[in-house]
Amino acid sequence: MQIVRTVSDLRAALRDSHATAFVPTMGNLHDGHLSLMRIGKACGGPLVASIFVNRLQFAPHEDFDSYPRTFEADCDKLRSVGCDVLFAPGERELYPVEQTFRIATPHGLGDILEGEFRPGFFEGVATVVMKLFGCVQPAVAVFGQKDYQQLMVVRRMAAQFNLPIEVRAGATMREPDGLAMSSRNGYLDAAQRAEAPALARALGELAVRAATARTARELAQAERDASAALAARGWKPDYLVVRRRADLAAPEPAELGREGALVALGAARLGTTRLIDNLEF
Ligand code: PAF
Repeated sequence: MQIVRTVSDLRAALRDSHATAFVPTMGNLHDGHLSLMRIGKACGGPLVASIFVNRLQFAPHEDFDSYPRTFEADCDKLRSVGCDVLFAPGERELYPVEQTFRIATPHGLGDILEGEFRPGFFEGVATVVMKLFGCVQPAVAVFGQKDYQQLMVVRRMAAQFNLPIEVRAGATMREPDGLAMSSRNGYLDAAQRAEAPALARALGELAVRAATARTARELAQAERDASAALAARGWKPDYLVVRRRADLAAPEPAELGREGALVALGAARLGTTRLIDNLEF
């Protein structure tokens, strides 16, 4: 695996490449990331991964400084899945001047759910992903479904900007007890780690109730109950809601019983660790 730190070295490494597959990450890789790498590798062209902890997508009070940086272990994992090129730029390489051009995300997508509780998050994600796409110029880019809304933002950005990039989704990888794999799971102490699968369970229970709800009122009650149940276990929920898969809008009553159209999404804090998860149903 070639490790490149600059855009010019990346371009040189990929000079004669076609059908490049790309998996952007912030490092601290786990099996979820590696499953995305395998999807990229199976595309047949060279596989490029990036590791870059993107300051633009962290609010000042968030965990940019403490975000786990595990470069050597990440490189070993990337080699084990046959990654061809790792692009690991420093901040001054990717942001040599203040990043004053930004990707504004649409109202109703970039400012709901994660975007409501993390203002500016999707602008930061979309901006760095656009830059990384410009650096790597992949044919295929793979994103995890655990970050459901991020995947939608990236898909729509690629479509609206006519980027010649196919955005593929990788299914969420879970620990045996159901906890979605995430770099932030490493922040949990033993008791929190034991409690953490309750988020996925709460989304499962919400999905069951939503599937039998017939009115917006019944759905809203099920959402409130899901949040209250987690709060009673010591969590601080930001949201547990049911949305349409197609656009993340609240479902119409007629859509409630329709199998395959909805997704339950949740974000909640356990101690100081904020976890997110989702479940399609
Ligand atoms: O999902 C992530 O790890 C990040 O949001 C991404 C897509 C690498 C952009 O920094």
